[in-house]
Amino acid sequence: MLVVANWKMNGLRRESIDRAKTLAQMESTNRLKCDVLLCPPAQILSDIRYAIDNSNIFLGAQDCHFDFEGPYTGDISSSMLVDVGCTHVIIGHSERRINHSETNEIVARKAEAAHQVGLNTIICIGENMEEFKLGQTVEKLSNQLANSIPDSANLNNTMIAYEPCWAIGSGSTPTLTEIDDTHKAILEFTKNNIFKQGEKMDILYGGSVNEKNADSILDLDHVGGVLVGGASLITEKFWSICKSADRKFK
Ligand code: 13P
Repeated sequence: MLVVANWKMNGLRRESIDRAKTLAQMESTNRLKCDVLLCPPAQILSDIRYAIDNSNIFLGAQDCHFDFEGPYTGDISSSMLVDVGCTHVIIGHSERRINHSETNEIVARKAEAAHQVGLNTIICIGENMEEFKLGQTVEKLSNQLANSIPDSANLNNTMIAYEPCWAIGSGSTPTLTEIDDTHKAILEFTKNNIFKQGEKMDILYGGSVNEKNADSILDLDHVGGVLVGGASLITEKFWSICKSADRKFK
């Protein structure tokens, strides 16, 4: 069970360090059984690494390049992420797919580069509103799964995050039944088409997760964690979501 904070492009250094320190302090006093991962903006990865040093909180990045070095202005390689202490990286978030024209093939190459240096990948997939309305969700996700997961992926280095594009930052989510059914379909497809043990993979849900709906989403049979955007910027809200995940172990 994993709770991920995707801070996206939010927060200056001081406030982000303070938030991370507070969370680290809370985690080290409570020793959560669920895993917690912070994915801050790249320029403060190092600061956040030190801020969470005495806790069990993991450090992750929001993206990486598919090459290890070279003439790629503004990009960061997977080996650079390891170098600053990252254990995880989010790949193929819909904001990267849409705003940076990342195709499934690019996503797969990035994930492979991350696996090569030992990073755990959280590979994001999700349908848009039109596809959702037309009942094409599973078809869209299957296509993304088939083409964005590299051969290097396995149970130990890969998690899938299902994030319907229309649920991100909108305050609306699919129904609980829809989330659970979709996660079940993802697990089924992964087992049949990607790798045998795929049905044991943790599938995270993301899209308007908050301190009020986290409990019921995390209660679903096929949900293995959550990927949180907006609510992860407010310490109390994010901590409450972490506690919801932690209760699943009791
Ligand atoms: P929100 O939680 O703000 O909807 O964002 C979800 C997301 O994109 C996490 O990666």
